[in-house]
Amino acid sequence: MTFYDVEDYAEVYHEMNTNFSKDLSADLSKYLMRNGAKVNSLLDLACGTGVFCELMNKKWKLKKCVGIDLSKKMLKIAKDNTKGGIKYIYGDMTSFDLGTQFDLITCNYDAINHLEEFDAWEKMFKSVYKHLNNGGYFVFDYNTNHKLERYSNSFWFTENRDFDFVSHIHTAGNKLCFQEYVYKKNPDGTYKKYKTKELKEACFDDKKIAASLNKVGFKDVKMCDKGYELTDFNVSRVYVICKK
Ligand SMILES: C[S@@+](CC[C@H](N)C(=O)[O-])C[C@H]1O[C@@H](n2cnc3c(N)ncnc32)[C@H](O)[C@@H]1O
Repeated sequence: MTFYDVEDYAEVYHEMNTNFSKDLSADLSKYLMRNGAKVNSLLDLACGTGVFCELMNKKWKLKKCVGIDLSKKMLKIAKDNTKGGIKYIYGDMTSFDLGTQFDLITCNYDAINHLEEFDAWEKMFKSVYKHLNNGGYFVFDYNTNHKLERYSNSFWFTENRDFDFVSHIHTAGNKLCFQEYVYKKNPDGTYKKYKTKELKEACFDDKKIAASLNKVGFKDVKMCDKGYELTDFNVSRVYVICKK
């Protein structure tokens, strides 16, 4: 995934985005515990720099934990930072065959939107189904068509203690196109600039996604808001949770 392999962008991505994985692993763990799930194994698709794998591995004392990603630089950071016990594999989330099954399969932080054709989403759903234990959970989140409309041709700016972040967003058909600039503060008060290539994400209709999951065989498909509360779909990001 060349976008994430631009210069040292993976490094700054890792520093900037750990909070998403922290919130998600806490919210998801709460949901799974409330529902009496037994999670001994996790497969995280498009695992990036491995933050979610590490947090879940620690929380659930997993017997098997695997992360797959298509960016060598993201995987290098994951491997360098691992506390051990997790296997990181270079591979495509739409076509993998690990010859083993898991209690939980995840794909987080709108990584699925990188698949630009809906056929690729369906291909991934089928591979996930094959790799899930009976009763196992498949969990992912995606940027919605609502986000596509809301952020059409906009300019997004955030600042915090260590980073300023600017994103130019425009839309083309069902695609959100971003170009991101990150300014990381150096100890001497100067900034280092990181600039990405253009990143495309495709958005699809919520009903089409739910129907496809049902067609593949998933049951109890729930489309939720953050914290796994049911949503009215009027949101930028939907969190999906379903079972085999
Ligand atoms: C927004 S990052 C999310 C990373 C991680 N899930 C997280 O929560 O921080 C998207 C990730 O998807 C990966 N990716 C994109 N397309 C992929 C594919 N077809 N197969 C595997 N990984 C892919 C990228 O390399 C990148 O690491």
